[in-house]
Amino acid sequence: YSVRAIKHSDDELGKLVDSFNNMLDTIESQNRHLTNARDELEHLVSKRTTELQTSNSELEAFCYSVSHDLRAPLRSIHGFSQALLEDNEAQLDDDGKDHLTRVMRSANRMSTLIDELLNLSRVSRCELKPQPVDMSQMVKEIADELLIEPDQKISLHIQPDIQGYGDPVLIRVVLDNLVGNAAKYSSHEKESHISFGQSLQSDSAAFWVKDNGVGFDMRYANKLFGAFQRLHRADEFEGTGIGLATVARIVHRHGGEIWAASEVNNGACFHFTLTSNDNDRL
Ligand SMILES: Nc1ncnc2c1ncn2[C@@H]1O[C@H](COP(=O)(O)OP(=O)(O)O)[C@@H](O)[C@H]1O
Ligand SMILES: [Mg+2]
Repeated sequence: YSVRAIKHSDDELGKLVDSFNNMLDTIESQNRHLTNARDELEHLVSKRTTELQTSNSELEAFCYSVSHDLRAPLRSIHGFSQALLEDNEAQLDDDGKDHLTRVMRSANRMSTLIDELLNLSRVSRCELKPQPVDMSQMVKEIADELLIEPDQKISLHIQPDIQGYGDPVLIRVVLDNLVGNAAKYSSHEKESHISFGQSLQSDSAAFWVKDNGVGFDMRYANKLFGAFQRLHRADEFEGTGIGLATVARIVHRHGGEIWAASEVNNGACFHFTLTSNDNDRL
């Protein structure tokens, strides 16, 4: 827009040239303003992004060190309660013993919470080491070690030879949680049916873990993946509500998606993808 028409006369043609040149002036100045505004915006966005990244990693570090530092006092609460209970049994009445047992149970629960919080902050910080993973084999190993309730009957169906690509340690955390939830939330059934497979839709292959348990109301489906969000009461099913938040972080770090489908009292199915071939995201 910096070129101008040359004016040869003051007649109508000359006026036209003038107004044409004026128009070009206006466009040129607006263009300059727009470019400046865009530059400013870009600068602002990159500044804010850096600030956000810094405060995010500070928060992660804070969460990590707080969780870490909470462990020592907790160990001593648990340890001294146990010592009291064992060494001073004769001086304690039933109420006293009951109170101490409750203190120990709470300390144990808090210790689980801290472990899970540490896990959550670890999966966001650790470096991904993606490689081929035999998903079917991993689910089988997890299921072999599962013990939710000693007399729970579990029938397991695993589609054979399902391969994934991602960080094996983190994928193990994902499957541990999903298979563990499937077993936990179906533990009130006569027999738990847990299955694992892969559905080949469009270009992305989604893995799924399905159960025949209590399920949940789909109206709250988007809440499941937030930390501390639970749809079931602790007296029905124990838990901390951190598992699926950890799972979602891992899936997102791999560039994948996670979603769930369920109906109350009709089981639940969790689907996820792992598209870690997209190297930009790793
Ligand atoms: N397989 C499932 N069937 C029904 N509800 C589930 C299932 N998996 C997860 N949920 C719901 O999602 C919530 C969050 O899951 P999670 O983060 O693993 O926490 P936790 O297992 O500690 O309760 C659970 O409290 C439960 O309400
Ligand atoms: Mg869980």
